[in-house]
Amino acid sequence: MKELERLAAEHARAAVRLDRVGMKREAAQRYKEAIKLLSRLIELTDDSMMKQIYLEKKQQYERRIKDLTESVYEGFRGLSKQAKEPGFAEDLIVENPPPITWEDIIGLDHAKKAIRESIIYPMRRPDLFPLGWPRGILLFGPPGCGKTMLAAAVANEIDAVFMHVDASVIMSKWLGESEKNISNIFKSAREYESRGKAVIIFMDEIDSLTAVRLNEVGGEARARNQLIKEMDGLLDKGKNARIYVLAATNKPWLLDEPFIRRFQKRIFIGLPDYEARLKMFEHYARKLDLDGNVEFGELARITNGYSGADIYNICMEVQMKVVSEFFEEGSGDEGRPRKIRMEDFMEVIRRRKPSVDLESMEKMLKWASKYATS
Ligand SMILES: Nc1ncnc2c1ncn2[C@@H]1O[C@H](COP(=O)(O)OP(=O)(O)OP(=O)(O)O)[C@@H](O)[C@H]1O
Ligand SMILES: [Mg+2]
Repeated sequence: MKELERLAAEHARAAVRLDRVGMKREAAQRYKEAIKLLSRLIELTDDSMMKQIYLEKKQQYERRIKDLTESVYEGFRGLSKQAKEPGFAEDLIVENPPPITWEDIIGLDHAKKAIRESIIYPMRRPDLFPLGWPRGILLFGPPGCGKTMLAAAVANEIDAVFMHVDASVIMSKWLGESEKNISNIFKSAREYESRGKAVIIFMDEIDSLTAVRLNEVGGEARARNQLIKEMDGLLDKGKNARIYVLAATNKPWLLDEPFIRRFQKRIFIGLPDYEARLKMFEHYARKLDLDGNVEFGELARITNGYSGADIYNICMEVQMKVVSEFFEEGSGDEGRPRKIRMEDFMEVIRRRKPSVDLESMEKMLKWASKYATS
């Protein structure tokens, strides 16, 4: 591994040097060598962050090769992709949800508790819930704070069929088919249920189903009505039906009242607080080679307003910074990228603003105070 990385860096360095002096063909050749080695590294490493970094480097070099060779192969363009046929609902079942467990999700204790109480317990012991339980659960909050992670953790914890439906994909790919797709999804769900399985239908980006006023296509309104009909059907079907609709959105204000009412449980997934940010830095920087001067407490303090995804990306960017220096400038300690220093974190954080802006956060909190359930 170490040797492969060293070789890849050597080729990358040579490529950058050749590229700078305009030796296009030779540079492209060296980039290609680097790409080959990076592909091997991607195969060999099980560290997901390093994998992503190698992948980004690889793609960066591929783009560069394309630019360098464009003039040589003028006229060549990729073949147009064939349009995808609308799939059956079966295609929407994620056989292997990402291997995320409750422990991977930092903070969000209230959300974990609420989900346990409203999905996991009734699913395991319906007999303990004589008065029934919610079938519609909405996770809402700013992007990158763990909504999709929570859904995956649920899927992994229980022995249920997990149908992952990206609402925005339904709407964009299958225009005109969206309403039929929704009814197919529920038909499949009922079939699984009749065979004794519990079913969770996870609908990500649910707002795209109801953003009726934003565009005129009209398909949305039909899809939304169909979903409402199906959800009412679940409640009619009897107290013990074990089909749940778990939905997520980062624009809850686009949902209309009747739609909101179908989700008896509405859980706010907010930005991480200081404690959570501290744990996130510790968690994501754990595998990085850090200098002794890195202070997680300080990093957590100055990243108020940043999401979990932001923090993950900051950690990835600092690692990318030393890898790039190592690959392209040849700096490093004994054939390895140099250690990451506090200054690297500071530089990356200064450049990277929080991805959630104040205005939408205010909108979110206002919505939460009106609609969030405990
Ligand atoms: N609470 C958290 N604990 C640990 N990591 C987190 C947390 N929240 C976000 N992350 C990091 O950010 C990434 C994105 O999180 P996730 O996809 O769950 O966000 P989301 O709320 O679904 O966002 P979106 O609204 O954009 O779909 C995760 O893969 C993880 O790396
Ligand atoms: Mg998500």
